[in-house]
Amino acid sequence: MLLTDSDVGAGRSAAARRARLREQVLITAANPGLSALLAVGRTLGPRRGGVLRVPRLGVVVTDPVLIRGVLTDYGSMSLLGEGGVGHLWAQVLGEWVYDAFDGPGHVSLRQRSRDLFTEANAAGIVAPVFDAPVARALTRLEKGYVLDVAALARELVGRMVVHLLGLRVGSGRSGFLDPADPSPYLEVYATGERLASLALGTQASTELNGRTVAQARTLVAELTRDVPTAFQHAPTSTLLGRCREMGLREHEATGLATLMLVAGTETAASAMGRTVALLADTGQVQDVVADPALVEAAVREGLRVSTPAAVIGRHVVRDTVVGHLAVRAGERVVLLTHVADNLAGGFDVRRPYDPSTRQLWFGAGRHLCLGAPVARAELAHLLGALAATGRPWRVRRRAPSRRALVPAYHRLEIVLR
Ligand code: HEM
Repeated sequence: MLLTDSDVGAGRSAAARRARLREQVLITAANPGLSALLAVGRTLGPRRGGVLRVPRLGVVVTDPVLIRGVLTDYGSMSLLGEGGVGHLWAQVLGEWVYDAFDGPGHVSLRQRSRDLFTEANAAGIVAPVFDAPVARALTRLEKGYVLDVAALARELVGRMVVHLLGLRVGSGRSGFLDPADPSPYLEVYATGERLASLALGTQASTELNGRTVAQARTLVAELTRDVPTAFQHAPTSTLLGRCREMGLREHEATGLATLMLVAGTETAASAMGRTVALLADTGQVQDVVADPALVEAAVREGLRVSTPAAVIGRHVVRDTVVGHLAVRAGERVVLLTHVADNLAGGFDVRRPYDPSTRQLWFGAGRHLCLGAPVARAELAHLLGALAATGRPWRVRRRAPSRRALVPAYHRLEIVLR
C-alpha cells in the first residue's frame, strides 16, 4: 500500500505525541520533584506573562526573554547565596568559591579559558577521544548486536572530562591501562552522578545539612584523587594546566575540576541518549540518515527539547523587577529553561534556529556553559557516526535513571533496521 503525504503527516504527529510523552515519563521517573515543578511552569507560566511567585519556592520564570534578562542582570542576581548553585558548591568546597564562581576570580578564569573550547577546535578535541570507542560500538551494531546508547554515552563523557582535565585514571598497580576498558571512565561518571544526586531536594532550599556536606566531601575526594598530580604536570591545553598557569592554588584547581566532572558529564550523557531516542521515536531518524547535513539541526533540537539542565537558580541581591513582578533582595529566582525552550514545540529537525531561545539550554551571559562547544561536538560525533551507518535505528528497550538530578536514560537499547 502506498502512503500519501497526509498519511505520513498523521503518522508523524502521533509519533511526536508519543515522543513527548516518553520524555515526560523519563523526567518523572528520574526526578519526580522536577517533573512537578515543570508541570506548574507549563500550566501557569504563559498565563502570567511567564513569571509568577510560588510560595516556598520563589519567583518562577518560564519566558525565554525574561530568563535571559535575569541571567544577564549581574547587578541584581547572583549564583552565590540561597537558590544559586554556587551556594551549594561553597558549602562543599569552601569559601574561595565566592570569588572563583561569581567574583573577580570568575571573570579572570573565564577570560583566560576563553580559547580552551571553541566552535573551531571542539570537533578536533572530541574526535581523538570518541573515535575508537564509537567505532567499536558501531561495528557491533552493524553486525546486528544491540547497542546500549545510554551506557556508551556515560563511557564517552567520562573519557572526555578525564581527557580535558588531563587526569590519568585506572592504570592500577600494574601501571597498565587497556584503552578499550570503559570501567575507569564509568567509575568517574558514577561518582559524579552520586555527587550531583546529593543536590536532589534542594528545590526549596540550597542549604545542605551536615551529613550531606560530609558525603559530598568524601565523593569530591574520591573524584579528584588524581587532580594534584595532573595539576603539577598537565599541559596548558588542559583546564588544569591553564589553572596552574594562572597561579591558582591546588585546592582551587581541585574545586574547578570537580565542577567540570559534574557539569560536563550527566548533562551531556543525558542529551546523547535522549536525542538518539527522540530521533527514533519521532521517525525523523529516516531524515537524518537520508541527509546527514541534518545532524547539526538534530543536535540543536535534541538539546532544546531535552534541556538537561532544566532549572537554573539565582539569588536576588538587590531589589529589581522581573517582567511585571517586583522582586526583593533575598528572594530566590527559579528559571525553568526546560519550559522556556519547549514553548516552540516538539522535536523537529526542520525547525529553523529560534532567536528568542538562542541556546538557553546552555544558560546565558557570563556563566554561559564553558563546555557548550564540546557538548555540541560530542553529540554531533555520536549522531554523525550513527547516521553514517546509512540505516535508521529503532529503540528495542529503554529504562530511565532513578533518583537522578539530570533526567537521563539508564538503558537505551537500539538496533539498526
Ligand atoms: C549538554 C550538555 C551540557 C549542558 C546542557 C550544560 C548546561 C549548562 C548550563 C545551563 C550552565 C549555566 C549554569 C548557570 O548559569 O548557573 C552551565 C555552566 C557550566 N558548564 Fe555546562 N552544560 C553541558 C556540558 C558541559 C560540558 C561538556 C562541560 C565541560 C567540558 C561543561 C562545563 C560547564 C562549566 C565549567 C560551567 C560553569 C560556567 C561558569 O559559571 O562560568 N558543561 N552548563
